[in-house]
Amino acid sequence: MIFGFSPGVAKEASSPDFMPRPAKMQSGAGRLAVTAAFAIAIRHHDDARLRKGIERLSSRWQARTGLTFSSGPANGKASETLMIDCAETGSELPALGDDESYTLDITAHGGVLRAATVVGALRGLETLAQLLESDGGKWFLPAVSIQDAPRFPWRGLMLDVCRHWQPIEVVKRTLDGMAAVKLNVLHLHLSEDQGFRIESRKFPRLQELGSDGKFFTQKQIREIVAYAAERGIRVVPEFDMPGHATSWLTGYPELGSAPGPYAIERKWGIFEPVFDPANEAVYAFLDGFLGEMAGLFPDLYFHIGGDEVKGGDWDKNPRIRAFMKERGLKDHAALQAYFNRRVQAILTKYGKRMVGWDEILHDDLPRDAVIQSWRGPDALAAAARRGYSGLLSNGYYIDLAQPAAAHYPNDPIPANTTLTLEEQKRILGGEATMWSEWVTPETIDSRIWPRTASIAERLWSPRDARDLDDMYRRLAIVSGRLAEIGLRHESYIDPLLRRLAGDSAPAGALRNLRVIADLVEPVEAYQRGKQQPGSTQGTPLTGLVDCARPDSALSREFSREVDRDDLAAVAASLGTWKSAADDLARDKASARVRALKPLFDRIGEACAIGLEAVAQLRNPAGISKDWRAEKLAALADAARPHDACKLPFIPALRRLVVAAAEESKRAGMTPEAWPNRVETQAVP
Ligand code: ACM
Repeated sequence: MIFGFSPGVAKEASSPDFMPRPAKMQSGAGRLAVTAAFAIAIRHHDDARLRKGIERLSSRWQARTGLTFSSGPANGKASETLMIDCAETGSELPALGDDESYTLDITAHGGVLRAATVVGALRGLETLAQLLESDGGKWFLPAVSIQDAPRFPWRGLMLDVCRHWQPIEVVKRTLDGMAAVKLNVLHLHLSEDQGFRIESRKFPRLQELGSDGKFFTQKQIREIVAYAAERGIRVVPEFDMPGHATSWLTGYPELGSAPGPYAIERKWGIFEPVFDPANEAVYAFLDGFLGEMAGLFPDLYFHIGGDEVKGGDWDKNPRIRAFMKERGLKDHAALQAYFNRRVQAILTKYGKRMVGWDEILHDDLPRDAVIQSWRGPDALAAAARRGYSGLLSNGYYIDLAQPAAAHYPNDPIPANTTLTLEEQKRILGGEATMWSEWVTPETIDSRIWPRTASIAERLWSPRDARDLDDMYRRLAIVSGRLAEIGLRHESYIDPLLRRLAGDSAPAGALRNLRVIADLVEPVEAYQRGKQQPGSTQGTPLTGLVDCARPDSALSREFSREVDRDDLAAVAASLGTWKSAADDLARDKASARVRALKPLFDRIGEACAIGLEAVAQLRNPAGISKDWRAEKLAALADAARPHDACKLPFIPALRRLVVAAAEESKRAGMTPEAWPNRVETQAVP
């Protein structure tokens, strides 16, 4: 079991299991029993959205406890256990700046959840959902007093439904997960070179020729917006322009800067197709299209992409060159700024405020545009200094398969910021970005969850929530809760491994594959495209790398075992992995498993080196003077990725080898100096 409830880990009383951590909380004495008689009453404002939130909480608790609660709110009855006191409905639809605050007080005698608005009450219900504990079969809420409100008003997740199509079921369960960790913006990336993913009734060739039939109908979009609103989540659509435009131009080639024809792009990368900013027909088209979309997406904010315009097709078109010259537009950036101003005027007409990636920033851009920074925190700060509101996404690229520890410390307003308070107010928050080159509906949950919960905490909780070990401890718990509400980041793995191993695979082979899948990680950043060159939209994503997750808990725990000198645990881990890898390396049944033999061999060799180091540490004997260098070189060799899988436990093995080689010097060193020495010498 990788993530999930881990009964072996003792809970510190001062560090409860919430994620995101509430702004303020004090633990009290006693506990409120949760039995079948548990009853929730609503005081003051009462509406369908609040009742549905309560029903969701109650059905989750029923499933977890096996209890059946009496149905419906216990309004006016003396028997209530928990009172929900909500002052008013708040805005009709969720909006930026909604009051999301709430307080939650639990004593042995009852509980009160107070909020100014329904959205605040919904946030409080999610905290309550995380509070339920059991103790020897009895369920209870520990006494606690919480005063909570978000640090940032814009806490989002961007979902690219284009490169790999993600249907409505994926969107809905993603929204469930977002609500559970108090994220409040779903940013839907709806157009890309590789697909146009929404129905236009005005311009039907967009979806007819640009989507392979994989797009949201307008009815489904309304369903998504309503489903999100019910959970206090805004939906911000993105239509990427003027670049990343191949799928628009497939149906409407006359809007492009090159003569065409265009065809849906199947590969990954940055491509030339781009709107023609010098063509008035483009603005007439966008006026019609954006007007239609503005009616579907009620949120004030509307994203126009604007990233990665190559401009080659602009240079090649004499009419566009003449247009630039005539208007004194001296480069691609100036031409794009002209285009953006025209688009912004259209959006303003439809009552929308424009959001775009870094590249839209230009002196000519009106200050009510919002800049989403993917290129870095400096770009975000620069935008804020120039008067723009901004969102941070750099550092939250969850598609890059980095561990949560890489995202969690990343702060939209770091402690050492040089922004004035006024400028800091312009930083609205941030968004995790799920680009979909390497995910299908089957695997996407494992790339979003649970790591996105740590980003949600960064955007909700006070800046001083920074302890990595405690974050991982709570992340494991929240991961189990996310699985409980239907996210598939844990459950998808075994069926995928079964397919990999083949129908006739013995149970032992599947168990071994699971060990290896839990141990390895996908290569990070843009390495996967290099490891698997030639991959396209049609390449199956059903390999071992797709079962591996970006944050191997087995490897992380192993690193801790090494650092606390727990040789018994280290030897046990290495023995288990070696035996699994050796067995799989001998497997003849499945061609797909046989193709992974180089990886199994590397794991087996690395574990054998680790076991040698353990033997040396347990029973120091003379080792040859070349031993260390030989072993470190062998580990460097074993560390090479295979089929886009890497071995994240290699750094800990290097420390183990260095410790074994240096052991005789340890006695003369301070307890702090020793790990420093080992660490320094173990770095490749
Ligand atoms: C981006 O990653 N091109 C916004």
